[in-house]
Amino acid sequence: MSTATVPELERVLFTEEQIDQRIREVAAEISRDYQGKVVKLVGVLKGSIFFLTALARHIEVPVKIDFLGISSFSNKSGSPGLVRIAKDLDEGIEGEDIVLVEDIVDTGLTLRYLLQTLASRAPNSIAVCTFLDRNSRRIVQVPVNYRCFEIPDRFVVGFGLDYNQLYRNLGYVAVMKVEKGG
Ligand code: IMP
Repeated sequence: MSTATVPELERVLFTEEQIDQRIREVAAEISRDYQGKVVKLVGVLKGSIFFLTALARHIEVPVKIDFLGISSFSNKSGSPGLVRIAKDLDEGIEGEDIVLVEDIVDTGLTLRYLLQTLASRAPNSIAVCTFLDRNSRRIVQVPVNYRCFEIPDRFVVGFGLDYNQLYRNLGYVAVMKVEKGG
């Protein structure tokens, strides 16, 4: 689907070619850093699945994959960023080298919760790999070990990222028009 056929989209931010190239570079970094180890990629559903599968194909050390699903909610006073695990990992992670794979790190609240939860399960190590990073909106400081792209403060869709569950299947990343999400 080109942006011309999706009127809600303003412009393409990263093309399929740019995404593919950058994922290969990040996969090479991970392959170097995890030489001699088995890496377990933990994907956060659903946004990270396109990124995780593309990344995994280019990593050159043994890879395991697991997923967890989260849901975000607000409490009575309306504070954002409350997160709970809606679908847990299939297997334990004790003693394993974990790379938590995210679609985007925005405020950092989701990632902070996930890191705390996973750390309590005694993995050997945990690193964070995110497809997109919107550092300008960070509320809490969280470690990001690998990132494909830093993005401006606009709502984006594609390559796993959605607006009302739509547009995840776009091969590129695009900025939504302002009257929609962005
Ligand atoms: P955080 O807890 O604020 O860092 O939010 C991270 C989550 O918000 C991501 O995993 C996405 O699901 C969602 N999100 C944040 N920004 C965008 C965006 O621009 N497009 C689509 N989803 C987004």
